Amino acid sequence: MAKHWWQEVVVYQIYPRSFKDSNGDGVGDIRGIIEKLDYLEKLGIGAIWLSPVYQSPNDDNGYDISNYRSIMDEFGSMEDMDKLIAEADKRDIKVIMDLVVNHTSDEHQWFIEAKKGKDNPYRDYYIWKDPSENGGPPNDLTSMFSGSAWEFDEASGQYYLHLFSKKQPDLNWKNEEMRQSIYDMMNFWIDKGVGGFRMDVIDLIGKVPEEKILTNGPKLHDYLQEMHEATFGNHDLLTVGETMAVTPQTAKLYSNPSRKELSMVFQFQHVGLDKQKGKEKWDLKSIDIAELKEVLVKWQTELDGQSWNSLFWNNHDQPRIVSRWGNDQEYRVESAKMLAILLHMMKGTPYIYQGEEIGATGTPFSDISEIKDIESINMYHERLAEGYAKEEIIASINAKGRDNSRRPIPWNASRNGGFTSGTPWIALNENYKEINVEAALNNPNSVFYTYQKLIQLRKDHPIMVWGDFELVDTVDEVFSYYRMYNGERWLIVTNFSNEEQFFSSKEEIEEIIIQNTSDRVTTLKDITLQPWQAFVAKIK
Ligand code: GLC
Ligand code: CA
Repeated sequence: MAKHWWQEVVVYQIYPRSFKDSNGDGVGDIRGIIEKLDYLEKLGIGAIWLSPVYQSPNDDNGYDISNYRSIMDEFGSMEDMDKLIAEADKRDIKVIMDLVVNHTSDEHQWFIEAKKGKDNPYRDYYIWKDPSENGGPPNDLTSMFSGSAWEFDEASGQYYLHLFSKKQPDLNWKNEEMRQSIYDMMNFWIDKGVGGFRMDVIDLIGKVPEEKILTNGPKLHDYLQEMHEATFGNHDLLTVGETMAVTPQTAKLYSNPSRKELSMVFQFQHVGLDKQKGKEKWDLKSIDIAELKEVLVKWQTELDGQSWNSLFWNNHDQPRIVSRWGNDQEYRVESAKMLAILLHMMKGTPYIYQGEEIGATGTPFSDISEIKDIESINMYHERLAEGYAKEEIIASINAKGRDNSRRPIPWNASRNGGFTSGTPWIALNENYKEINVEAALNNPNSVFYTYQKLIQLRKDHPIMVWGDFELVDTVDEVFSYYRMYNGERWLIVTNFSNEEQFFSSKEEIEEIIIQNTSDRVTTLKDITLQPWQAFVAKIK
């Protein structure tokens, strides 16, 4: 496999609404991001994945786009965006745009036209169906945001499909002219010098709703190959597909280079392990480390040499990892560092979600009135109607809802964490006076410096990028593996638990590369790992 820049970098995801507000309206913006580029340079990242900044009525915080070629007023202007790309470039940071083309906003010009009638030229840009025989929706497909996926349009007597909110009508990828418009739009951004695209729910674009086929539809890969050819094919861009239902087998269809589709995909099998099988993410179950290991190891080994992995614990749809699978109380710092070391030492491109690098936690919500996210709000009402207790629903939201990771970044201990001089659109974490960027930068033992070091190690040691992966057999709670490259071997040892664990190896340490405890590890024979301990040893 040819080598690419996007295998060597670490990517940092910015959720603009919550990153930094430059003008006091309580909403983060592009100028705020520009202000913080020096901070990101200091961290060492090579690319920013920017959650959507396009014009949007914000039914789903920008994932409902009403114009792909203009910037949301709250976030700034196209001049700001051009400046962001140029300023990032000066610091060797590429900007990866979020490409949301499974659906648009219902306020997009295309949909406004489409609604005008059955013979409007844009009608077929979306998916319309007649009512079923009994007059109801065409079938029982449900939206990811609760309720039917079909919305009735009085004027034409037809239903349109929306796999997310009813303000996010699904585009009809069977329409060639629509596809061409998307490719033109992508080229508009490529010409601006962006570093690539993160493709929102891209595994849905081949859907066949009448047969209830959603992910992995028959034409999906034809469309991606066509897109590759029409847009980024001749540029070395990072393209990462958000693919909810992917397995190692199907991942290779997207990302084996010979197929000319994407650089890599985000798989979600590991973050689906703390839900009850066959149920929704709200139906909680605790994480089983043996299962987690099995899944992550499977991805490491099955893609090897054929496709490239993406590595992540967090994003704007997932709860904060230190609160989710670490220990955000007694061992917050240790567990945050351990999770970082465990992930960044694996083979693939690591993604950091804003705030992860300071070990940001979540803060429980106590009432639905505090919740902003449409997904949680819709689910709340649906489950309430089904007879669930309020407390149980709120507990699910606290465990899995998307608002916690969308709380503003605290930059310092001042009012509102220095995020805004106004009123933040959603409350900050309660602990922002202790856990904030300034405090992290001032403390040489903070989580920040572990991330910074991991990123620097990646730049200095090809083994971290290219080395082979091999699992070490241990007790369940210990996650240990080798990376091996050109005769060099690193042994990664992590304790994924609140208890001490036994570990032993016949290997001898040449050098400790990184660790999260103050006591130096000096031997690998019969050692007791402290709760959440993690270290990487270069082996003789
Ligand atoms: C993706 C996004 C999520 C959004 C959804 C609909 O899963 O990551 O935030 O709500 O797609 O666009
Ligand atoms: Ca603002």
